[in-house]
Amino acid sequence: MLQKKEVLSLEGKVAVITGAASGIGLGTAQLLSAYGAKVAMLDVNEKGEEEAQKIREAGRTALFFKCDVTSIHEIKKTVHEIIGNFKKIDILFNNAGVTVRKTVVDLEESEWDFVMDVGLKGTYLMSKFVIPIMAEAGGGSIINTGSGWGMKGGDKAAVYCAMKGGIVNLTRAMAIDHGVQNIRVNSVNPGDTNTSMLKEEGRQLGCEEMAFLKDSAKGRPLERLGLPEDIANAVLFLASDLSSWITGSALVVDGGGIA
Ligand SMILES: NC(=O)c1ccc[n+]([C@@H]2O[C@H](COP(=O)([O-])OP(=O)(O)OC[C@H]3O[C@@H](n4cnc5c(N)ncnc54)[C@H](O)[C@@H]3O)[C@@H](O)[C@H]2O)c1
Repeated sequence: MLQKKEVLSLEGKVAVITGAASGIGLGTAQLLSAYGAKVAMLDVNEKGEEEAQKIREAGRTALFFKCDVTSIHEIKKTVHEIIGNFKKIDILFNNAGVTVRKTVVDLEESEWDFVMDVGLKGTYLMSKFVIPIMAEAGGGSIINTGSGWGMKGGDKAAVYCAMKGGIVNLTRAMAIDHGVQNIRVNSVNPGDTNTSMLKEEGRQLGCEEMAFLKDSAKGRPLERLGLPEDIANAVLFLASDLSSWITGSALVVDGGGIA
């Protein structure tokens, strides 16, 4: 007979979250710490320090690390510092991302590299240094932030769609390679979520903010934008033992947007 288990508890776990100074990464740092995880919050934006402080003031454990996920040197140094503070890593949320809303014709080569480097190369580099640590400790859970646009195309989003498609399939490849080390790797794929990135997209497309946000919610079966908390809930599930036999999957969290 199955019993009720405290499977959602992350007590004693250490979670590393990139892009944790705002939006989905910040919401996830708040939620995972509420479930008992010690969180390492990585970002290029030093506002992450204030956010980590707020989490500590709520009686939880969080440390901010200024780290650019496109830099192998900064990642090596930061992973070393995380281990110095927390001794291990159980959960890695590769979430840092940026977008440039242009067609391939209009896109500058530097813009292509910027979006690819933060999203895709950042995920590769973080995983490269964290997986051996997880493997040595007997396993872990990695969650990569994809997007609905990693599964279908979107307008004026050529490099973003390419980058997110790469993340969804990189996730599957990593799941195949590292299952034997008891490391599960899944992607969480948000639809339009009310964060600074979505507002920045509206600005890039020359839209009025409120109209853009309203328009982005339209046509979704659940008729609203996502909130960082909606995505964080899915990350909590994939980080916890409730998803113990799920790896290589792409979980769509979008109010039914691509249904
Ligand atoms: N908001 C949406 O509608 C939406 C939809 C689908 C997927 N996503 C994805 O969710 C993730 C989080 O985005 P968000 O919406 O919370 O946006 P956000 O702009 O609020 O957060 C992204 C964070 O990443 C950080 N970041 C950028 N470059 C970095 C770098 N080189 N190194 C470390 N940190 C860096 C930023 O400073 C920022 O704090 C991204 O991967 C994004 O592509 C967002």
